[in-house]
Amino acid sequence: MKAAIIQSNPAHLDAQITRARLERQLRSLAGKGVQLVVLPELAGSGYAFPSRETLSEHAEVADGTGAFLGWLWAQCRKYDFDIVAGFAEREGDRFYNSAALIGPEGVIGVYRKIHLFDSEKEVFTPGDKGVPVFERRGVKVAMLICYDWAFPEVWRMAACSGADLVAHPSNLVLPFCQTATPGHALCNRIWVVTANRIGSEQLPNGSEIAFTGGSLALNPFAHAEASGPQDEEWEGVFDFDVELARNKSVTTRNDLLQDRREYSGWNN
Ligand code: ACM
Repeated sequence: MKAAIIQSNPAHLDAQITRARLERQLRSLAGKGVQLVVLPELAGSGYAFPSRETLSEHAEVADGTGAFLGWLWAQCRKYDFDIVAGFAEREGDRFYNSAALIGPEGVIGVYRKIHLFDSEKEVFTPGDKGVPVFERRGVKVAMLICYDWAFPEVWRMAACSGADLVAHPSNLVLPFCQTATPGHALCNRIWVVTANRIGSEQLPNGSEIAFTGGSLALNPFAHAEASGPQDEEWEGVFDFDVELARNKSVTTRNDLLQDRREYSGWNN
């Protein structure tokens, strides 16, 4: 099986230019036998929203009828692959920093970012639906988003719910994720696919943030199967074997999930 990472360079709050750039990158994957493509966090809009009003202009409901997910859905139909992409989700008067898994038949599932980073807390509501797992083309796929890298609990939740692969749309600004995720891959024996972006944006407080690229596909033994540059758009295709994530044994008497104990009540 083949998957791909798109490391993109969104034009801040300019959906048209951003989609034109993504379209070129998606087209470059056509005919390569790719079944799953992972895009960065907030891939259609860019990262920073100066106000809830601006966010509202870019947010959409998660059913595939909105501008960005509708466009991604059309790309899935055109190329017959599934896409995981970050997007700004609207539900009633709330906004979530979400990721959608979309296929040729539409939106398959959504994950809402649980751990909000910095000024995201001013406009988004933390995710409230756990870490769901969706079966696609024989692969069990979970999603986490960017700063979730710092919380081993959610990676374990994904593994305990049967995920073979965690798609990890990101807009990384700190240099630590690529050091942390090999541990998540190894300790849970799962595939980890971090799609980061490049470029820079201005935050509402006027400070400039730079995104760090370095997208990474890790196999369940923490070996990098694809690894992107730090400052260029990039499309990385890699082979993945789902069976590697299904055998959790580390010795004949040890299994990474079955050896877990009942920890509650020990330290609090
Ligand atoms: C981040 O969570 N976008 C740093």
